Amino acid sequence: MTPEPIPVPETGRRCPEPLYGAEFAADPAAAYRRMRRTGPTAPVELSPGVRATLVTGYDAALHVLRSPETFSKDSRRWRDMADGTVPADCPVAPMMAYRPNALLTDGPEHRRLRGAITESLGAVEPHALRGYVERSADSLIDRFAASGQVDLLAGYAQPLPLLVLNQMLGCPPEYGERLVEGMAGIFGLVDAEKANELLTRTVSALIALKREKPGRDVTSRLIAHPARLTDEELVHTLVLLIGAGTEPEQNLIANSLRLLLSDDRFAGSLSGGSLPVEDALDEVLWTDPPMANYAVHFPVHDVLYEGTLLREGHPLVVSFAAANTDPALAGEQHPGNRAHLAWSAGPHSCPAQGAARLIAAVAVEKLLDRVPDMELAVPVQDLQWRPGPFYRALAALPVSFRPTAVTTAVDGTVDSPVTSAAEGGRGPGGGGDTAGSGAAGAGLPTGDGASTSAVRRGSAPDRGLRGAPAAAAPASGWARLLAWWRGE
Ligand code: HEM
Repeated sequence: MTPEPIPVPETGRRCPEPLYGAEFAADPAAAYRRMRRTGPTAPVELSPGVRATLVTGYDAALHVLRSPETFSKDSRRWRDMADGTVPADCPVAPMMAYRPNALLTDGPEHRRLRGAITESLGAVEPHALRGYVERSADSLIDRFAASGQVDLLAGYAQPLPLLVLNQMLGCPPEYGERLVEGMAGIFGLVDAEKANELLTRTVSALIALKREKPGRDVTSRLIAHPARLTDEELVHTLVLLIGAGTEPEQNLIANSLRLLLSDDRFAGSLSGGSLPVEDALDEVLWTDPPMANYAVHFPVHDVLYEGTLLREGHPLVVSFAAANTDPALAGEQHPGNRAHLAWSAGPHSCPAQGAARLIAAVAVEKLLDRVPDMELAVPVQDLQWRPGPFYRALAALPVSFRPTAVTTAVDGTVDSPVTSAAEGGRGPGGGGDTAGSGAAGAGLPTGDGASTSAVRRGSAPDRGLRGAPAAAAPASGWARLLAWWRGE
């Protein structure tokens, strides 16, 4: 039943703000400022002709996220999709169309699917996870260490999360490569339909393999979980984990590296005993959250919220980025205060926050360890952001540095299927098919600058970090950060 429209006081806006295109990508904060003028919600277009309401206020965001009885995640309620106003193949459909997974279900169904995820991810030891990240990071750094330049996005931040996830899921290398190919397709690099099919086939094959030969990995735990996920639910849960665990993670790593490489504040307070890497992560989570606008909800009936009619079945998109920078929060956005919404809030908040943060922190710390004198290769204001409504994602992060030797400190069991696939080749190594394998003994940066994997293995003095030519007087924030990291 659709009640008669409730009259809404006109306040001058009503022209939907486009959340696509170069202008929004270049300066989303300006769009959020414009939208805030007319209240905590505003009409937007996610792609041409795809209408939604963006929630820009912090309190309004919390209200939506914490009222599952009024705002549903089930996108089968999306009216414009159901009646054909929005075509099924519109560019934002892959991020919004219904699938039987935790992200897009409500109530008991959601709790069942989410419970299996939370417990399976929770069983991954932080120590093992650090090992996965360090080995993945080492294998990627080895690919560019001698060249003196790299696009940190394509060469590091992008492939690393998938390498780590492959290990968490217990993916044999050849499966890892196919997953990469599938993911690349989903993100628009090749035929999306074919890619989706490849991804589904690969994930199904992984499930079959783990049914036959379970390991100490997330896939095997999901299969064995008392929630008894069906094969279809297992496939969609794994695809969700791969999607949710890669793109936002790469953006957290890249956005944090951008900040550390361009902002002297993070090097300025090093002697004060603060933790600049953690501070940079906090700042990015407040000001450039990797997932900028998402948590799509559908009102289950018409709702009048602060003078605006939110129609049943009309998508409400929560702007974590706008909510975090809501002027009402002035003074809250400081390191250590983790009240930001970068992980969302309420029943669908990210179940992998601890792991996600750890992966990003270790990824940044590894670069500090191994790549001295890194500098942005272009002025920070020339860096381009990828257009799109959902992510705050750099298009590239080119850096230069003094070439440094490849270390053999890594045990060689992780190679980069991403790079291999991109090169059309096959990675010789693999993630191993059991969680925890090879992780023991991997070095764990402690944040005190004294304990690094390379140093502990004793191989670094002549090849890696300590063997690098002495840096010139630290000029950039990164160089000073590095000096602190080295304990100098
Ligand atoms: C920096 C990295 C990450 C960020 C910023 C992030 C952020 C988020 C956000 C904002 C949501 C809510 C989305 C929504 O309601 O529409 C979410 C949900 C989710 N995330 Fe993460 N995430 C990250 C990493 C990960 C990782 C590494 C995994 C798993 C390996 C993961 C798994 C999930 C899952 C399964 C959900 C759905 C939970 C539910 O609906 O109950 N995320 N994440």
